[in-house]
Amino acid sequence: MPLPEGIESLLFTAREIQARVLELGQQISRDYAGKTPLLVGLLKGSFIFLSDLARALSVDAQVEFMVVSSYGNSQENSEVRILFDLPVPIQGRDLLIVEDMIDTGLTLAKVVEILSARNPRSVKVCTLLNKPSRRRVPVAIDYNGFDIPDVFVAGYGIDYAQKYRNLPYLAVTMKA
Ligand code: PRP
Repeated sequence: MPLPEGIESLLFTAREIQARVLELGQQISRDYAGKTPLLVGLLKGSFIFLSDLARALSVDAQVEFMVVSSYGNSQENSEVRILFDLPVPIQGRDLLIVEDMIDTGLTLAKVVEILSARNPRSVKVCTLLNKPSRRRVPVAIDYNGFDIPDVFVAGYGIDYAQKYRNLPYLAVTMKA
């Protein structure tokens, strides 16, 4: 079967993703036993991962979303802007930030800084994909689906020029 335009190769099948998401869900459920974590999804890329992860949890969880711009005007400019903020107070809550991908770490570092200043009880991070070779600022990752090399990726919520977020698998793409 020919791959969609711009897609170079398969990275993880839907089945491989589901297996890893279930493992993460079990691990998170053990760690948060007796608590009600607030899952903070960073849109748009995390929407499918968060949907599956939430259903893999056996603890009660609440869900909210934020929209942040990753790079501002330029990739060399570390400005990260909040386009849509959490609509609820988070003081005293156990936050689990849910990301599709951590690349330079700039987005996550800023979000952690902003949310930590609001006095939550705890802040942890769960990402589906991690590109350690691209890191520019250190970030602590508590739950990591997969380490991947420095390749462009699409599918399972992640876009290629705004396309392919709905692919059920993860693929390596050409440069968008
Ligand atoms: C991606 C991803 C992370 C961020 C990671 O978002 O979802 O939020 O980039 O990059 P960083 O570690 O270098 O900061 P993107 O800007 O592609 O937006 P999207 O989630 O709406 O697709």
